[in-house]
Amino acid sequence: MADGGTAADGAPVLSNAAWFARARRSIPGGVDSPVRSFASVGGTPYTVVRGDGAVVVDVEGRHYIDMVQSYGAVLLGHAHPAVTASVVEAAASGTTFGAPTPGEVLLAEAICRRVPGCDQVRLVSSGTEAAMSALRVARGFTRRDRIVKFDGCYHGHSDALLAGAGSGVAGLGLPGSSGVPAAAVVDTVVAPYNALPELDERVACVIVEPVAANMGLVPPAPGFLQALRQACDDVGALLVFDEVITGFRVGPGGASVLLGVVPDLWCFGKVIGGGLPVGAFGGRADVLSVLAPDGPVYQAGTLSGNPLATAAGRCVLDAVGPRDYASLSERVERFATDLAVVLGEAGVVAQVPTAGPLVGLFFSDRPVTSYAGAKASAATGRYGPFFTAMLRQGVALAPGPYEVMFPGMAHSDDHLDTVLAAAASAARQLAVGPLAG
Ligand SMILES: Cc1ncc(COP(=O)(O)O)c(C=O)c1O
Repeated sequence: MADGGTAADGAPVLSNAAWFARARRSIPGGVDSPVRSFASVGGTPYTVVRGDGAVVVDVEGRHYIDMVQSYGAVLLGHAHPAVTASVVEAAASGTTFGAPTPGEVLLAEAICRRVPGCDQVRLVSSGTEAAMSALRVARGFTRRDRIVKFDGCYHGHSDALLAGAGSGVAGLGLPGSSGVPAAAVVDTVVAPYNALPELDERVACVIVEPVAANMGLVPPAPGFLQALRQACDDVGALLVFDEVITGFRVGPGGASVLLGVVPDLWCFGKVIGGGLPVGAFGGRADVLSVLAPDGPVYQAGTLSGNPLATAAGRCVLDAVGPRDYASLSERVERFATDLAVVLGEAGVVAQVPTAGPLVGLFFSDRPVTSYAGAKASAATGRYGPFFTAMLRQGVALAPGPYEVMFPGMAHSDDHLDTVLAAAASAARQLAVGPLAG
């Protein structure tokens, strides 16, 4: 595409390549979050100008069926009219106050009403903050320091939780992060997912993605979460479910309701902000009573409970009911089955696991149950060429092998059929390409 001219909004008309080159001059690596880079798949990121439902449009006018949906922050589809109206209406009354608002009370109530056992939540501005704050509460409540996390689970980029993280950290081939002092992770124990870790009275909490979705999609093994619940109770440790992805996506009550295991603390994010920056941590009221101003555990945020985010989040939660989740999960289950079939027919060995409407993709001949299996799938090197072939056909997957697909309420059967047709063609290319075999 030729560069030049000015768009209606005053932005210069540039190609994807030109925007990315320009981004690299003012933004490190050209991206505000490393998962958006194409470092692990090759090529240049498409630069988005707008979205509509299941579709995003880039600066060159190309349309893509978007399976990323802001990594799960968008459930109803891009620019959903009701969500847009709720944000516009809220903004017209002021964007942030530094005083309590009805909107944050209503969103907190909406969350707690849907999640049995979650008595209270405090709103923050990201999933990272939610997980970081939940840890601090767990440590303050138990007066213990040690935390246990699982290999390949991602809980945001706070120092103590970056060890053994999946998602972008893994996609870039990093074992952890430089810049995290050894002292910050000295009390972090990393255990293999789907295996019961040894716990003792030094452990403040065990934090887990109840359905792991940052090492591809790895559902919990039967009995794993139940055993974890029991093991925590046995030593007086708290169980923390990080439902930043699964919350209000895998079902109306998230993973704890779907899987029938009640943690002591939850972390939420993504869906509850309707596409605006939000997070929340919550749980048992007696545990949360340690938080300032009532208790000694400090946690705060200028934009926490932001009126725009709470309006959008409430709008989304109100718009979807149990039947919507059930019908989306059914459609997605069919899609995943068909995806496995078209890949297999092209001679590409793959696994397509699901959890509710979450879909994973592993280039593996057996189900993946741990980070080791996810890494082996990524090491085949097949995801990059598959991703590129899909993008060329107008389907945007996440640019990394450790992410999942997020078909949502805006994805029609036609959209999903188009994705399947593209996958069949991409798989045929993969089967005859240099990576065949
Ligand atoms: C399970 C989980 N926890 C925490 C986070 C961090 O959330 P945020 O990116 O909003 O800081 C993420 C982000 O993808 C996540 O998937």
